[in-house]
Amino acid sequence: MNVLIIGSGGREHTLAWKIRQSPQCERLYVLPGNAGTTSIAENPGLDPSDYDQLRDFILRNKVDLVVVGPEAPLVDGIRDYFNSDARLRRVLFIGPGREGAMLEGSKDFAKQFMNRHRIPTAASATFTPAQYNDAIQRIQQGSTPVVVKADGLAAGKGVIICETREEAEKAIIDILLKNQFGEAGNKVVIEEFLEGIEVSVFLLTDGRNYVVFPEAKDYKRIGDNDTGPNTGGMGSVSPVIFADPSFMKKVEERIIKPTIEGLKEEKIDFTGFIFLGLMNVSGDPYVIEYNVRMGDPESQVVIPRINNDFIDLLAAAAKGRLEGYKVDVTGKTAVTVVLASGGYPGSYEKGKVILGLDKVKKTIVFHAGTGTGQDDSIITRGGRVLAVTGMGENLKEALELTYSEVKNIHWEGMQYRKDIGRDLLELEK
Ligand code: AMP
Ligand code: GLY
Repeated sequence: MNVLIIGSGGREHTLAWKIRQSPQCERLYVLPGNAGTTSIAENPGLDPSDYDQLRDFILRNKVDLVVVGPEAPLVDGIRDYFNSDARLRRVLFIGPGREGAMLEGSKDFAKQFMNRHRIPTAASATFTPAQYNDAIQRIQQGSTPVVVKADGLAAGKGVIICETREEAEKAIIDILLKNQFGEAGNKVVIEEFLEGIEVSVFLLTDGRNYVVFPEAKDYKRIGDNDTGPNTGGMGSVSPVIFADPSFMKKVEERIIKPTIEGLKEEKIDFTGFIFLGLMNVSGDPYVIEYNVRMGDPESQVVIPRINNDFIDLLAAAAKGRLEGYKVDVTGKTAVTVVLASGGYPGSYEKGKVILGLDKVKKTIVFHAGTGTGQDDSIITRGGRVLAVTGMGENLKEALELTYSEVKNIHWEGMQYRKDIGRDLLELEK
């Protein structure tokens, strides 16, 4: 099969790495890709957001399977574009249409969906700019901490955890009146704060059936001990010790099944990944958010733990044939540590030469913001640059291996968290 992956981050390099291992894989394209994907796939210089050009490329190169990595093209309706063209309908496609992608694209939509299907989530209310006074009143009458969210996609920045009412009022003014998040802030969702530990669970669904992938924990803050600003994710671990069979059973019964049933009932066609951001509140799971894609850097620990032929799995989903499909997961623990540019998530310099990649032997280096410089050197081109994944018989072993390999890699200003997985090691004791 000829496969095309859309995206350019660590998630897409991981998908490409896994798909390349399938004996069914013939040509593999990543659009636009990065310096890591060039070694295992072709990266034709084409803008994936130009759907007409993309269609011509797919038809000309007889692409059989398309996998969309990030959410933006899905929310934008790339799947609907494919559905509207008879020649593209024979192409297997992983990713929901615009309506299904609203689960991620609109927090208000996701909340209403969960309420309709009685899926546990934090209590919330939604307000438009015309309802500004009601929003402020809600804050004045409610408790703190409280969570204020811009409704639409805001690149992970649209969620503000407010310790005081003043902070919450400011957040509402910024979103509703000052348009800090542009169109994403046409509505604001005010939500109860949930106290607990987060865990992410991933599904692949054909719209009727689903398979559950291994769970993962993500480390979002830039600094050790969860300090400093939020990032896209600085590391992750899978499995997660507290996501034991009894917790996962609750997730399946209370969240996964009603989500899939809800999509079916509402006739929302959904072929693709569902990423459940969950809060474990005293042993009970609550949905913090839905994403309609895999996580980054969660993919870098989840996908290497799956033993199945990934093309086989994705093709089964795209053909609506996931019933009875078994995902074979290794019992090993996977850890990924993200290496980022100095200054990230604020402003940072690009074009730094990355050294030492040839010394890494026992872990997998997934590329994110990398490019090819002069003399074929690998250079930095983004905030999150690499994710180094190590596997071990247990968490301690996986952490030791990963951190010992990270030490080989260097560029000017490189930063990474030294405490990935440390909280889970404590829990194991
Ligand atoms: P989101 O973009 O919805 O994933 O939110 C970003 C982060 O904000 C989450 O990963 C949580 O750490 C935190 N968060 C969001 N909603 C809540 C909530 N209701 N209670 C506590 N923390 C939350
Ligand atoms: N690491 C969080 C995400 O991919 O949304």
